[in-house]
Amino acid sequence: MSITNKKILLGISGSIAAYKSADLVRRLRDQGAIVRVVMTNAATHFITPLTLQALSGQRVHTDLLDADAEMAMGHIELARWAEVVLIAPITADFLAKLTYGHADDLLSAICLATTAPLIVAPAMNQQMWQSRITQENAERLQQRGVKILGPASGSQACGETGTGRMLEPLELVQFLQNEFKSGPLQGKKVLITAGPTREDIDPVRFISNRSSGRMGYAIATAAATFGAEVTLISGPVSLSPPQDVQMLSVYSSQEMYEAVMARISTSDIFIAAAAVADYRPVQQASQKIKKNEAHLQLTLERTPDILAQVANLATPPFTVGFAAETEHLADYARSKLEKKKLDMIAANLVGIEGIGFDSEENALSVFWADGCIELPRTYKKMLANQLVEIIMQRYLLT
Ligand code: C5P
Repeated sequence: MSITNKKILLGISGSIAAYKSADLVRRLRDQGAIVRVVMTNAATHFITPLTLQALSGQRVHTDLLDADAEMAMGHIELARWAEVVLIAPITADFLAKLTYGHADDLLSAICLATTAPLIVAPAMNQQMWQSRITQENAERLQQRGVKILGPASGSQACGETGTGRMLEPLELVQFLQNEFKSGPLQGKKVLITAGPTREDIDPVRFISNRSSGRMGYAIATAAATFGAEVTLISGPVSLSPPQDVQMLSVYSSQEMYEAVMARISTSDIFIAAAAVADYRPVQQASQKIKKNEAHLQLTLERTPDILAQVANLATPPFTVGFAAETEHLADYARSKLEKKKLDMIAANLVGIEGIGFDSEENALSVFWADGCIELPRTYKKMLANQLVEIIMQRYLLT
């Protein structure tokens, strides 16, 4: 993964948004980063060093003139240790200090002494952000190669509304991942299906399912982060297209099947995250069906099994399927892996509150011919990164 084992020095300055830094530390560590936290004195009024020490698993540094620290990890050692310095939140005051090269506290001294890239996420009252001097400072820092992420707009802790909110921890993690993508999938083509399909009954009615498309979209983003050339074939969902991904919207299983088959011969990896309808009406009424009868019988037929057909091609790509089950997860998943001749299957239990279909979180059990791994419950975006990493490792072994 792009930030796995990356040494990230997280600087925290004195803004109420510092409470988000605790979550940021966790999210960074979830992705395998090694995080050391340096706080300004003002930051310690908003969140305690102890909280960040517990979350980072490392001693938190606060003082420039600390004899004990200088014996172990002083400002120069910290500056050398860091592979990236991320200051989140950065206040208007700290932005100004950076601009003018002050070094009168530990964090500003580190910023001056390091050769690591500097990334900052501002958080301040919207008027302070808009002020001419802050804007000039931000511009000067940018010209010197400092990356400024955000701020976002919305309601603020001070009660005002405007631009000045720190970006969310997940957005910052995503940015770092893009920034440091090592590109192990560079030059590889990954084809992904996502979302539900709709099978028309008549011009106004259809059969579909509760798939939100979130898992497939997150996988597409993760694969792109690893440097792959990603094509995402999506059924009808209400998500924005992921960045750096070629999108193709389809409606029915037949359309999804045709779109996949047209592109499969040039794909290296195929990930079928879509919840394709298994059955469709044999006939679609050309006019709206009237409710004249007490009972209405629909005759359904099987849709093409896109995944099975891809896996059974003469020269299939590395093929990954999904299995959403309500019981006997491992047994059903393993039998699907064999029957459909897949390289890998990611299985999840559905029908559990808060995970799976139409929710932000999920948990997966991933199986391949001679192994398996459990990916515990977390945000789908995080899970997607972990899954793509496993896919990548297995794919590179084949
Ligand atoms: O057999 P089952 O429908 O449970 O298999 C689920 C897997 O097969 C998913 O990866 C899904 O995207 C894929 N599939 C497919 N075409 C279908 C049905 C399922 O590609 N018609």
